[in-house]
Amino acid sequence: MSSVKLIGNASGKEFILGLEKRDSKLSLLEYLCHKEIPIAYSCYGEGICNKCLVRINSKEQLSCQIFMKNLSDGDIIEISYL
Ligand code: FES
Repeated sequence: MSSVKLIGNASGKEFILGLEKRDSKLSLLEYLCHKEIPIAYSCYGEGICNKCLVRINSKEQLSCQIFMKNLSDGDIIEISYL
């Protein structure tokens, strides 16, 4: 199964998240909320607040604007405050 690694930079915790077809239409923000992984947001996907910012393969992106279907096996997602 394909997976991505989620790293909490503040805690050093690492999570392996499976990429499953049933989640492909979810945004990364929705997926993380569903998995009960703490992620900040206030506009819930409107792309306005910038609180859901993460780094994916060292590139800053809004997790509400990235869909699970756009992630690839081995991608590394970093959340600075986690
Ligand atoms: S939730 Fe506000 S920009 Fe993503």
